[in-house]
Amino acid sequence: MHWLEEELEGLKGQNLYRRRLLREGLIDFCSNDYLAFKDHPQVVEEAIRALREYGLGSGASQLVSGYTKEHKKLEEKLAQFKGTPCCVLFGSGYLANLGTIPALVGEEDLLLSDQLNHASIIDACKLSKANLLIFKHRDYEDLEELLKENRKRYRRCLIVSDTVFSMDGDIADIRVLKRLSKEYDCMLYLDEAHATGVLGDRGKGGLEAFNESWEEFMVIMGTLSKALGSYGAFVCGSERLCEYLINRSRSLIFSTSLPPSVCAGARRAIEILEKEPWRVERLKNLAQKLHSSLTELGFEVPFYGTPILPLMVYEEERAINIRDRLLSKGLLLQAIRYPTVPKGKARLRLTVSIKYKEEEIRLLLQSLKTPPTPQNPSLSPSL
Ligand SMILES: Cc1ncc(COP(=O)(O)O)c(C=O)c1O
Repeated sequence: MHWLEEELEGLKGQNLYRRRLLREGLIDFCSNDYLAFKDHPQVVEEAIRALREYGLGSGASQLVSGYTKEHKKLEEKLAQFKGTPCCVLFGSGYLANLGTIPALVGEEDLLLSDQLNHASIIDACKLSKANLLIFKHRDYEDLEELLKENRKRYRRCLIVSDTVFSMDGDIADIRVLKRLSKEYDCMLYLDEAHATGVLGDRGKGGLEAFNESWEEFMVIMGTLSKALGSYGAFVCGSERLCEYLINRSRSLIFSTSLPPSVCAGARRAIEILEKEPWRVERLKNLAQKLHSSLTELGFEVPFYGTPILPLMVYEEERAINIRDRLLSKGLLLQAIRYPTVPKGKARLRLTVSIKYKEEEIRLLLQSLKTPPTPQNPSLSPSL
């Protein structure tokens, strides 16, 4: 297995090697806990209650014996929150995409996917064996051209897009996607992993933000693991769709269901969000403020009103150096590199959370201001 070492050395040579960092003792500026639900006392309390009642794991897949009242209550809550008739849970966002997209389209069908969709969508598209066409990022004229040229030749068609793009923070135009889907008789699949709890005045996601409502051809996927502070994922849509996924989605059928405590915590987070929409407003304001401060420091930070602030540094090595400099000051801001983003488009992905304290933000901005110091290899290994 000497090739393993060669491969790893190759990654190091390109500044693309990754290692995991222990988070303890660091101020975390890159988690997706946008609304501070991960540690919210009521969320934790509700999870502990379910943990005591049900124990640690769920014990089996949803279809065997792993479906409890906690799962059902969360599905009902999510369906109501997203404005759809029905919802089914999945073990994670990755599993939801992997299980749903190939269940909806296959060899006889057409799949149209945005160029910057999340890796789990890319993998799901490959797994589906559908005829895959990639449209330019948020370029709906390109999408329409592809539809005009190709739609008629295929049985079913699925258009797939992130609602908020995870590494750039920009937003798909849901209104246009909906119109095109209708016009060309396609299903529309929206990945709302970073839109849930973030977009719209009440954090309901893309439909709320665009003042649109759900229609039967729409499949709304989202995760519990980001703004809702928990773990797992869901797919919302029609009753028929849920019934179909329960019968056909392999990652739902052949994987152990979420622990009930995780579901209970996520449900409580939604209940709090419904009562406290100020969280969404505060998140937006803080993102705006931080964006202004970072721009003043001279960073190039594209901003679309979401809590994802990519500090563009382009060169992989530079991204690593800045990350390590911050690490040496106890701050965690990861360097995002290929294959998560294209080569030469490395960035530090700062995510805003309403849990950040003023002094933490001050320390971050101060540390980003400091010019790079010569690396001390024993202090901060640069890979
Ligand atoms: C757009 C998008 N979809 C899906 C996922 C996968 O979700 P999970 O982390 O729950 O597997 C992510 C997570 O990074 C994401 O950003």
